[in-house]
Amino acid sequence: MFKVVALLADTMADAFTQSAKANIVLCYRENGEKVHQFLKEHGFLDSTLKPKTTGDMLALPFIEQVDGKEIERMLCSAFDFEIRIDCIELEYAEISNNPHAQLRSAVTSWLTSFNSSEGENGNFLKELPRKWQHLGDVVVLPETAFMSKEWNELINQRTIEELQHLWHHIARALGGKRLARQHPVTKDKHRTSQTELLLGQNGWVEFLDHGVQFGFDATKVMFSAGNVTERRRIGSIDMENEVVVDAYAGVGYYTLHMALRSRAKHIHACEINPDSITGLTWAQETNGLNKQMTIHQGDNQETLPKLYGQADRCHLGLLPSSEAVWNHAIGCLKPEGGWIHIHMNVHKNELDKWQDQTLETLKEYAGQHQRNWKISIEHLEFVKWFSPHIQHVVLDVQCREILQE
Ligand SMILES: C[S@@+](CC[C@H](N)C(=O)[O-])C[C@H]1O[C@@H](n2cnc3c(N)ncnc32)[C@H](O)[C@@H]1O
Repeated sequence: MFKVVALLADTMADAFTQSAKANIVLCYRENGEKVHQFLKEHGFLDSTLKPKTTGDMLALPFIEQVDGKEIERMLCSAFDFEIRIDCIELEYAEISNNPHAQLRSAVTSWLTSFNSSEGENGNFLKELPRKWQHLGDVVVLPETAFMSKEWNELINQRTIEELQHLWHHIARALGGKRLARQHPVTKDKHRTSQTELLLGQNGWVEFLDHGVQFGFDATKVMFSAGNVTERRRIGSIDMENEVVVDAYAGVGYYTLHMALRSRAKHIHACEINPDSITGLTWAQETNGLNKQMTIHQGDNQETLPKLYGQADRCHLGLLPSSEAVWNHAIGCLKPEGGWIHIHMNVHKNELDKWQDQTLETLKEYAGQHQRNWKISIEHLEFVKWFSPHIQHVVLDVQCREILQE
C-alpha cells in the first residue's frame, strides 16, 4: 500500500551543504542585478547554487542544459557591459529558499516511500526539471518533465492515487496548488496550447502581471511568459490619443499592456481562437476596458480590411512570421501614417538582409494602397533566442506621409 511519508527535509539538507562545479556568468557587481534578472527570466539561472562575490565581481550560476557561448551571445546583444563565462566551484543554496532543492526533496520523499532503491537512483533526480512557469496557482512544467524512459516506466507502475501524491508534493514544493505539463503549441493558426493538467480540476487561471489582470484556460490557450522584456517595452511606449490594432491579440498579452500602461485611446483586438476570445473578454471586463477596447473575432484576412485607414499603430505579434498581414497593416494605418511593430523569427546571420527585404516589401504595399509615405526602420529589438540560431525580434517601423509643397 502507498505510504504517505513526511518530507525528508533534514536528510536532504545535508546533501545541499556541499559545493559543486558550476558554469557561471562573471560580471561586475554593479551589473549583477541585470544579469540575475536576465538569467531568471530566460529560465537559465541555477537556483540550486549560491551566487558568489569576490571583490568587485559576481559569479552567477546557470543551468548545465544551456550552452555558455549562447548565453554569452545573448547577454552581449542585450547589454553593453563586460561579462565572462567560466566554470568555478559554488556552494549549494539553502534548501528553504531554493525551489529546486525543495523539488528534489519532495520527489525523493515520494520515491523513498516505496521502500525500494528508487530513492537512491540518481537518474530520477537528475531528470528533474530546472525551469517551470507560474500561471496563477498553476505550476507549468516543461514538456520534457517526468517523460524520460526511467520516469515513464516508474509512472506506469504506480496507481493514480500514488501519482496524485507525487504531483501534489511537486506543486507544493514549487509554490503552487495545481500542476500542469506543457505540450508543444500547435502549429495551426489557433496556436492552441496543449497543456496537460496533472493535478487540479480545471485549467482556468487568473493573475496580475505588472498591474494588468489576465484570465484564461491554460490548458486551451498559450501565454508566452518568456517575452517579459518585450511586454515591458511595448507597455512603456506612450500611445495616448492613438488608435491601435493588435492583429494577433491572443488573451491580451500585448493588447492589455498597450491599453492600460501605454494608455492607447482605443484598441482593436483581433483574434480567431474562441478560447482566447473567452480570456480576452474576461480581461476586457475585469480591467475596465469596455469602452477602450473592441474585440474582433475572426480571421485577420477578413477583420483587418474593415479597419482600413483607422489606426495610428499596428502590432503584429505572431511567430514565426506575421507576413500574412503586412499588407493589411499598411492598409489599417491612417493616411498620415503611423507605426508597425513586426514580430519575426530570423536567422542570426540574416538580420540585415531581412530588414532590407521587409522595408522593400512594406514600400511596395504602401504603393498599392496609394500611400505616399517615407517608411523607415527605427529600431530592431532582440526578444529572445527561439532556437540555437534563430532570434525572435521585433522591428519598429515608422510610416510618415510625405507632404507636397
Ligand atoms: C502567438 S499567439 C500571440 C498571442 C500573444 N500576442 C502572445 O504573444 O501571447 C498568436 C495568436 O494569434 C491568433 N491568430 C493566428 N492566426 C490568426 C488569424 N489569421 N487571424 C486572427 N488571429 C489569429 C492565434 O489564435 C493566437 O491567439
